[in-house]
Formats: sequence, C-alpha cells, structure tokens
Amino acid sequence: MIFPQSKLLKSLPKQFFASLVAKVNKQISDGHDVINLGQGNPDQPTPAHIVKALQIAAENPNNHKYSPFQGFASLKEAAAAFYKREYNVDIDPEKEVAILFGGKAGLVEIPQCLLNSGEHILVPDPGYPDYWSGVALAQAEMITMPLKEENQFLPDYTELSKSDLEKAKLMFLNYPNNPTGAIANKGFFENTVTLAKNHGICVVHDFAYGAIGFNGHKPISFLQAEGAKDVGIEIYTLSKTFNMAGWRVGFAVGNESVISALNLLQDHLYVSLFGAVQEAAAAALTESQACVHELNALYESRRDVFIGGLQELGWKVVAPEGSFFAWLKVPNGYTSEQFADLLLEKAHIAVAPGIGFGTWGEGYVRVGLLTSEARLKEAVERISKLQIFS
Ligand SMILES: Cc1ncc(COP(=O)(O)O)c(C=O)c1O
Repeated sequence: MIFPQSKLLKSLPKQFFASLVAKVNKQISDGHDVINLGQGNPDQPTPAHIVKALQIAAENPNNHKYSPFQGFASLKEAAAAFYKREYNVDIDPEKEVAILFGGKAGLVEIPQCLLNSGEHILVPDPGYPDYWSGVALAQAEMITMPLKEENQFLPDYTELSKSDLEKAKLMFLNYPNNPTGAIANKGFFENTVTLAKNHGICVVHDFAYGAIGFNGHKPISFLQAEGAKDVGIEIYTLSKTFNMAGWRVGFAVGNESVISALNLLQDHLYVSLFGAVQEAAAAALTESQACVHELNALYESRRDVFIGGLQELGWKVVAPEGSFFAWLKVPNGYTSEQFADLLLEKAHIAVAPGIGFGTWGEGYVRVGLLTSEARLKEAVERISKLQIFS
C-alpha cells in the first residue's frame, strides 16, 4: 500500500538543490573529476582535542542513560561563558540558553514556537532555504526582505510597507550571511532592535558563520546591540566554528520567553543530545580557540586565492567579508541556473545557482570555499579555459 502524505508534508517547499546534487552525481558517474563548490559542508576535521573529549565522555556509563531533558547545565554554562568571553554578552545559563540538535533544528522549530497558522514572518531573500521549511511547518506566511548589493546585502527596512510591519511577528536575519558573504555592523543591529521594539517583532539572528570574518573584522553578535535580548535570540552552531557539522550540536541564547518556548517544544519532541556530545561541545566552547583562528585564516587564504584568480581573469567579483561562501555575479546573458550548468558541463565545477536561495538570488552563483587552495586554483584555470571573460 502507498499511504498518502499529510497536507502539511505536501506543503513543504521543494528541495531546489536536489536537482543540482543529481546533476553533479551524473557528471561523476560519467567519469568526470568534478570540483564541487556547490555545497556548504566544512571539509576540515573536528579538532583533535574535541574528538578526544568525546572519546573519554563516550566511555562514561552516565552518558549511556537518557540525558536531562533540556541538556546539561555544564553545556549551558559553557555557552554562557563563550558569549561572555567572545562578545562580552551576559547570558543566564539556566534561563537564556536552549541546547539544540544543530542550528537547523532551532531555526525550524522557532516559527512553530511563536506563530499561529496564517501569521507572518520576515525572511531574507536570498536566504538559507531551511528558513522556509520552518515557516511551512508552522503554516505561517513569509514576507521577503530583499538583500541587494547596493545595500551591502542588508535589508532596507524603509522598503517594508506599514501593513507588512504590522503583520510581522518574527524576523530571521543571518550575518555573516549565507549565501552573500556579507557582514552586519552594530548600527544595523541597533536599527533592527528599534524596529523590533516599535512593531513587536521577535528577531532570530542566525549566527552560523559567527567565527568566520575577514580583513581583521570579527563578526559581531546581534546580542551586542543594546536591548537585543528584549527583542530576540541568536542561534549559534558548532558546525562551522569547530567543523562539527556531523555532530548536530548548537544552542540558542537570548530572550527568556523565546528560550522557554523552544525548550517546551523540544520537551515534546526529544530527549536531549547524547551526553558525550554535550561534554565535547562544552570542551570546544571553553578550551583553546587557536583552532578557530587557524580555520578562519585558512578560509581567508582560500578566498584570496580564488577571488584574486577570478579577478585576474577579468571576472568582476567581490570578495566576501565573512562566511565561507563567495557570491559571484553571473556574466550577462545567463540566468544563474544556465551559468551553473555551463560551469558543471564544460568545466566540471559545481556551484549553487542563486535562484535556489530566492528571487533576489537570481543573477548570482554561490561558491563554497570548501576545498584546498590547489583545487581552487585549478577551478580558476578551468574557468579561464572557457574564455568567457577575455
Ligand atoms: C545560514 C545557515 N544557518 C544554519 C545552518 C545550520 O547549521 P547546523 O544545522 O549544522 O547547525 C547552516 C548550515 O549550512 C547555514 O548555512
């Protein structure tokens, strides 16, 4: 028998990038050496001291039991200590931290925590597609905020209509930004707090790339803006900062009422993370951060090699200021999908077409700097041979 899916499941957004993965796999099975810059999966291993902490904790029989429902106090304290040390932000570990199965879980849960069906949420366009999944599961409605190059890929709040601002209950932001590589400054976050206060909007800042900022600029936390905790939360993941994408661990920090809503939903969905993962995550947050600085330097060096190489070819690309993505304007005459197909078919380089991130992503492709400098140089050489820019 085939059982039909619920209306809710049928309403989920289609996975645009599934077709990209299929095209890449076809090229590989046809024997081509594909340089895959299309995804966002960190290529470096988790630092050894974190793996060691997991190994030791996995041997402790206490961790073989159910862990406490809302996670270990020690991990919440580590998250609070991390925010104090890195951003000088005070967090109450008991009331202002929720442990998450990775940032994605929190981002998808939040609309279900705060919105009733038919209520509205402001989302960036282009933006991380998993935001749409949470909106669909809550049966909420999206209001998109265009991120335009002329505004340094920050939303222009003056473009939002009065009625949109009245309707919106929630807003997602993400800096350093996926897919554009843009960063936010304190003034922008302060304006966001004012807007949120004036219109009763809860702000959810997705700080997934918080550790990755270039040209000597450390990305700032939304919670560093005066009054931010009154109006929202920040979602932090260990996936990118410590190359722990497979471990599924992150946390939300900030507004107490939002944190308690997340904890309540999670009490009904899960028991908390494997205790050994929680112990290792606490070690990552509290022990030496030298590995994070080295990782940042690695991405910056890759960025310089790749963007410098493309600029030498005559492709007018702008270097990202943070994240491990580059957001490249496609040459005239191509849609983002046509250009991505051209790179895949003629140069065997996979990139993500901007349209997959929203309407305002059209005209760009996203490149993940997630392979060695040698491979990135080879990608530049392959693009050069296409003679598009000469
Ligand atoms: C913008 C953004 N937010 C959140 C995530 C989720 O990361 P995770 O679920 O691994 O914490 C990602 C992962 O690619 C991302 O790009």
